[in-house]
Amino acid sequence: MIKANIAKAISDQVNAELYSAYLYLYLSSVADDMGYTGIMNWLRVQAKEEMAHATHMYEHLLERDGDVGFGPIESPVGGKNYHSVPAIFEKVLEHEKHVTELIDNIASLAMKEGDHATYNFFTWYVNEQVEEVDTASNLLKKIRLIENNPGQLYDLDTELAARVFVDPFANAGA
Ligand SMILES: [Fe+2]
Ligand SMILES: [Fe+2]
Repeated sequence: MIKANIAKAISDQVNAELYSAYLYLYLSSVADDMGYTGIMNWLRVQAKEEMAHATHMYEHLLERDGDVGFGPIESPVGGKNYHSVPAIFEKVLEHEKHVTELIDNIASLAMKEGDHATYNFFTWYVNEQVEEVDTASNLLKKIRLIENNPGQLYDLDTELAARVFVDPFANAGA
């Protein structure tokens, strides 16, 4: 059975992944409100990925007979104004950097506790976060170049409309 402190850390991360989905769904509604249906689509696919992460981590907890201690999910609504394309992607980048820290902390904890199975499980996420931050960072740089050109923003929106959700664990056999 998994140690209680590691089970708690994974439960908290399931919450953080669901919050990520919640945040991206909220931001997708903001994009929709502004008429950027491609960005809305990109963020909805992003939200689906986060839900897949939450379920995948939950399955790891069950496999290891860990207690599932689910707390409330924070609301992403309000506070800051995300009503611009750069503001949306600044938030995505900031959030993915934050999640990277959370994932690194779990990997460090698993290593410290000698929980090789959890460490190995989270290695996938360590790599995933490198990609998540890189993707968000590149998109934000591109947006910074074109933010004053509505035609080019429209083209980017069209490009992001093409993103489709691919279940990252489709072949994992869970
Ligand atoms: Fe995630
Ligand atoms: Fe993410």
